[in-house]
Amino acid sequence: MESSQITIRILIVSLVVLIAAAISGMAKGSDDAGLCGMTKDELFECKPAVVTGVATPPPPTAACCAALAHADLTCFCTFKNNKYLPLLGINSTRAMQLPSKCDPNSSAHC
Ligand SMILES: *[C@@H]1O[C@H](CO)[C@@H](O)[C@H](O)[C@H]1NC(C)=O
Ligand SMILES: *[C@@H]1O[C@H](CO)[C@@H](O)[C@H](O)[C@H]1NC(C)=O
Repeated sequence: MESSQITIRILIVSLVVLIAAAISGMAKGSDDAGLCGMTKDELFECKPAVVTGVATPPPPTAACCAALAHADLTCFCTFKNNKYLPLLGINSTRAMQLPSKCDPNSSAHC
């Protein structure tokens, strides 16, 4: 087998593993299983502000911003180019703007 084929195969396997991890982490899991220091409920609270397919999503709610304040933003930023986010209906551009929408002074830049 050519090495390029092997590389592609490894890439595909990695992607599938990542997607499976994202699904189990975001869609189900135990009650407070969340992502990047935010619980599922907190993530859900932020979702309307970052959805894709609407021209002007509503600003993040106070509950969302409160949750973001204790979230691990560095971790959050690793999702910036996550190809799986659009499949969840999340606009990653908007997701990355969330910290500065909550707090104009936020120093979180991805
Ligand atoms: C994602 O958000 C950006 C910034 O608000 C917007 O320009 C873009 O059209 C959005 N994309 C989708 C698919 O909604
Ligand atoms: C942003 O910083 C300015 C100057 O330090 C301060 O007056 C303002 O209250 C801050 N805004 C927020 C939302 O924290």
